[in-house]
Amino acid sequence: MTGRQRARGGGVSGLWWDAGMASRVLYLLGSAAPPVLQTADIVVEAQRDGWDVCVGLTPTAAHWMKDELRSLERFSRHPVRSGYKLPGEPDAWPPATVALVAPATFNTVNQWAQGLTDKFVVGFASEAIGKGIPLVAMPCVNAAYARHPQFGRSLATLREVGVRVLYGPGGFEPNEPGRGRPDAFPWRLALDAASEAAGG
Ligand SMILES: Cc1cc2nc3c(=O)[nH]c(=O)nc-3n(C[C@H](O)[C@H](O)[C@H](O)COP(=O)(O)O)c2cc1C
Repeated sequence: MTGRQRARGGGVSGLWWDAGMASRVLYLLGSAAPPVLQTADIVVEAQRDGWDVCVGLTPTAAHWMKDELRSLERFSRHPVRSGYKLPGEPDAWPPATVALVAPATFNTVNQWAQGLTDKFVVGFASEAIGKGIPLVAMPCVNAAYARHPQFGRSLATLREVGVRVLYGPGGFEPNEPGRGRPDAFPWRLALDAASEAAGG
């Protein structure tokens, strides 16, 4: 059973993984591009890599995945977060070892680079720069979005402050509009970069 089938209601019995087994915490922060629909499988893959995984989604991505959120919470064993906590509310997640923003839409990349933090995922990633939390980003944009002048500026800004941006050769390479292949999104490269960012 794939992680997505499990998240869609296929049950969580027989889980071998337990949050207490992992001391390395990966924040997997996704925005609304089609590979986000593979998040359940990626949580399982990251758990196999030894991560305790906490899933954050932009509100649009959370809407796309609304039927899977409860199950995702059950098998990640953490709440899926798409909004900020209330003032005074305790943190729902353990502290991050590393955060992986993937897939990162054109919108999320630009908001992050410009510090526009009305969304929890972007707010966390923006503050994490200043906190020195290792950050990895795998954009997912088509070639038309990529030609917009702000996109290159945003990638440069994020790289300047130390975010490992996996875009171009060795990372995500854009296709022309309508030719995207969500199944080819290089998740494995993203997870490997997260491990490397965390020191191996
Ligand atoms: C079917 C579909 C596919 C999309 N694919 C992408 C994509 O690959 N990359 C992208 O930047 N935006 C894509 N978008 C547009 C984003 O979902 C949209 O800009 C959204 O506002 C992003 O919000 P977020 O960054 O807060 O998740 C897609 C939209 C739809 C409906």
